[in-house]
Parts: sequence; structure tokens; C-alpha cells
Amino acid sequence: MARTKMIRRWRRNMDVQDDVAYVDMLTTLSEGSVRRNFNPYTDIDWDSPEFAVVPNDERWILPSTDPIGQHPWYQSQSKERQIEIGMWRQSNVAKVGLHFESILIRGLMEYAFWTPNGSPEYRYCLHEAVEECNHTMMFQEMVNHIGADVPGMPRLLKWIQPAIPLVAGPLPIPFWFGILAGEEPIDHTQKNILREGKTLHPIMERVMAIHVAEEARHISFAHEYLRKRVPHLPRRKRFWLSLYVPVVMRVLCSAIIVPPRAFWKEFDIPRSVRKDIFFKSAESRQMLRDMFGDVRMLATDTGLMNPLAKLMWRICRINGEPSRYRSEPQRRHVVSAA
Ligand SMILES: [Fe+2]
Ligand SMILES: [Fe+2]
Repeated sequence: MARTKMIRRWRRNMDVQDDVAYVDMLTTLSEGSVRRNFNPYTDIDWDSPEFAVVPNDERWILPSTDPIGQHPWYQSQSKERQIEIGMWRQSNVAKVGLHFESILIRGLMEYAFWTPNGSPEYRYCLHEAVEECNHTMMFQEMVNHIGADVPGMPRLLKWIQPAIPLVAGPLPIPFWFGILAGEEPIDHTQKNILREGKTLHPIMERVMAIHVAEEARHISFAHEYLRKRVPHLPRRKRFWLSLYVPVVMRVLCSAIIVPPRAFWKEFDIPRSVRKDIFFKSAESRQMLRDMFGDVRMLATDTGLMNPLAKLMWRICRINGEPSRYRSEPQRRHVVSAA
């Protein structure tokens, strides 16, 4: 009896047709996907001389919006070393990105599998999966071009990742928060790099511009999906969710932003520097906090900010003011870049 009730509730949650505003939003996003999309092979001319990866190219030096790039230890290294580290680092972020996207694609298919006929969510999820497939090809091409044999995600996460997409069917809300935890830090970092205006290698510049453009839709969908459902959760579930959100944000953000062990070994970077960059120094802590302004806004608006949850955000070191609107730029960064 209890089980049928649960399944009935789960099914009802997938029926969105009566919510006109939500259906309109999904239609706009889906039409956007048809109108504006990219292909990794026709929109990037990988074989053009401009895209060639050549030795000693200073455009690979990490920008100062990167936590490693802004650290005095990195800046005191020789140019060649900075380039080498920069190539490895940027290549690994692309690899972690495509690992995340691969989990997301599988989760999208799992979720879409259960949606009822006529659901606009089905169409949007498949548009998003197509775009993510293109991103994974684009990122892998970038990794191959740079030529560093980077591992991507930390090993533990690689082992547990096959189970993550299975959550998308029965527990879509925690799944979508997990997806935001992957998308928000990457998107935030890429936008900051583009805003900083440093001269980048054309591969990086093109890949990031394409990614930021398409990611805006994906993040919109995740936010709207959660805004529609979270406020109606039973109080007890909302409470547990409020504690889960900061933890998943912090854990997955670290998996993306902190390079794996192979990186520190390869470049023989002192332990103290590693600790300082992730996340002992004031700058890196601020950077960490800044990544989640939009998620704090979402959590505040959907009733996920109670005193214990606030404490959890603080323990995870990602507490702070919520954004006033999505993608609100951090004024501090603009000033320091100028
Ligand atoms: Fe993507
Ligand atoms: Fe995405």
C-alpha cells in the first residue's frame, strides 16, 4: 500500500502538463536548442594552423582567475614550467568535465525513460543529452590535441560513477542538485576566465565560448526543475535535502577544481603550496564561496536555508550571500582584473 502510494506520488511528480509557466519555459529552452546549437567538428576547425598546439606557447599560462594561476608559487616558476603546468591543468579540467557530462547524459536518459507521453521534459532532456554528447566530443578532442595523458576525475569517483545515473529515475531531485554541483563550478570558472580577458589559446577560447553558451540553458533547466519541485516536498524531506545540498556542492566541486594526485606528483609541487591553493589561502576560499552564489539563491528561494543547513554551508566553506540574480558577476574579480 505504502509502496503504491509512493509510486503514485513519483508518477504525479513527472506530470507537468498542467503547469503552463513551466511548460512554456521548457518550450522556450527546447526551441533555443534547435535554433542555437554547435557541432564540435563543423564549428571548430581542428586542423587549421591557428588551432595547432605548438611548444612554448605562452597562451597556455594559467589565467589569474584560476586558483593555481593566481598563486605566487606558480607565478614564480619559469615560463616553460608555467606553460607545461597550464596545459596539463586545462586539459584535465576538460577531461573531468567530459567525465561529468557522461554521467549526466546517462542520468538524463534514465529520467527521460520514465516521463509520460507528451511530457515536454522528455524533449528537453534529450536536447540536453545531445548537447552534452557534443561537449564530450569537443572536450576529448581538446585533450587529444593538447597531448597530456590526463586522468580526469579522482579515482574513487570513477569507481562509484556507474551508480550515480541510476539515481536520476527514483530520486531526481538529489540527482539534479548533483548535476548543478558539477555544472556551476565549471560554468563559473569559464565565465570568469572569459571575463578576465587574458589571451587564451584559440582551442580554449572557442571551446569555452561554445560551452558557456549552451550551458546557460542546462543550468536554467536544473534551476527551474528544482524550483518547481523542492518547495512542495514534505518538511522532513526538505530538511534532509537542505543538509545534502551544501555537501554535494562541496564534494563535487573539489573533484572538479582540485587536480588529482598525478598532477602534484608530475610537477613535484610542494605539499604546502597544494594546501595553500586548496583551500587555505584567503583568495582560494573566496573563490570557492563565489562559485555557489546562484545555488545559495536557489536554496534560499526554495526553503532549503534553515539554521542547521546554514551551519552545513559554513562547515563546507561555501557559505556567503546568495546572488541577487543568476550569473551575477563578482565585482571583486572585475576590479582585480582591471
Ligand atoms: Fe556541457
Ligand atoms: Fe551541461
